[in-house]
Amino acid sequence: MLIDTRRRRLLQAGTLAALASALPGFARMPALDANTTAEEATAGLDLRGRTIVVTGCTSGIGQETMRVLALRGAHVIGTARSRASGEAACNAVKGRATPVVLDLADFDTVVTASTAIRALDVPVDALVCNAGVVLDGLEQVRGLEKTFVVNHLGHYLLVRRLLDRVIAAPQGRVIVLGSGDARNAPPGGIQFADLSGASWEARYAHSKLANGLFSLELSRRLATTRATSNCVSPGHTRSHILRNVGNRYRSDARSVQQGAATPCWLAAAPAAAGFNGGFYRDFAPAEQSTLERDTAMAARLWTVSESLVRDWLPA
Ligand SMILES: NC(=O)c1ccc[n+]([C@@H]2O[C@H](COP(=O)([O-])OP(=O)(O)OC[C@H]3O[C@@H](n4cnc5c(N)ncnc54)[C@H](OP(=O)(O)O)[C@@H]3O)[C@@H](O)[C@H]2O)c1
Repeated sequence: MLIDTRRRRLLQAGTLAALASALPGFARMPALDANTTAEEATAGLDLRGRTIVVTGCTSGIGQETMRVLALRGAHVIGTARSRASGEAACNAVKGRATPVVLDLADFDTVVTASTAIRALDVPVDALVCNAGVVLDGLEQVRGLEKTFVVNHLGHYLLVRRLLDRVIAAPQGRVIVLGSGDARNAPPGGIQFADLSGASWEARYAHSKLANGLFSLELSRRLATTRATSNCVSPGHTRSHILRNVGNRYRSDARSVQQGAATPCWLAAAPAAAGFNGGFYRDFAPAEQSTLERDTAMAARLWTVSESLVRDWLPA
């Protein structure tokens, strides 16, 4: 059964790629690479009728992802930490964008946000887990290191509360924003013995390792459904992610238009429909460390995360 589903997806992906290359105009599309923008990566797509959730729509890659997917016709639900910032971001979009308040460090708001999204009573075609922080020093939420909570645990809870809606879509997609920085996670990977963060650093890398492992385990759990989960590195992008650490972007940082390109493509392009359990950068599978593909650690992270947010999961 599992093999059949995988085989079907591979065939689907191959057929779509062959069809796409035969379509008039395809040859004129620019090659998809590190310089491609989100608008270019989604050129010609008609996303009318699709509902796509993007967390962190007020800034950087999330803001551009929402803008471009709405431009292509999707109804985008953009999450923001305040009603005012969400409304400002959604009002600036050409197309349909609806703000929902969500603070990933506050699990009660994850519940109210998911309840508001569920109240729309539509399948969720894509759920882009984009919001994220880099913190300058140790902060904690309920005794847990805050970067892990915001970047991973809040998204874990949101996905769990919306997963049946993703599975209900014709081909629901969960896209998790990870990072190549995951390879710099503390030795041993996820710090199950001390999630308070008191005894280790590399907090951002640790959270991005968690993002990748979460997507990996989710993909395994979705293997018998029509839905998929993939992790994406947007590449080093000049956004606002480094605001707490002095905005130290390298000179080769790309634009948010480029950073949002692969996330948008994974969320909406027919060519990405069969992908499950991958880690992508610049429209192609990217290398990962052994830790990042550690299925046992991914399964353990799922179980531990579940126990940490149990009080906010549906009964
Ligand atoms: N930029 C890069 O070089 C790079 C590289 C690899 C991966 N990424 C990943 O890409 C994703 C997007 O980052 P970005 O570069 O676009 O950063 P950004 O410009 O700082 O945007 C981050 C977004 O996350 C939101 N956010 C922050 N804390 C939140 C919380 N507690 N609850 C809910 N939302 C929260 C922010 O909302 P506010 O406006 O309210 O703060 C903002 O909308 C992140 O997951 C990041 O780790 C970025």
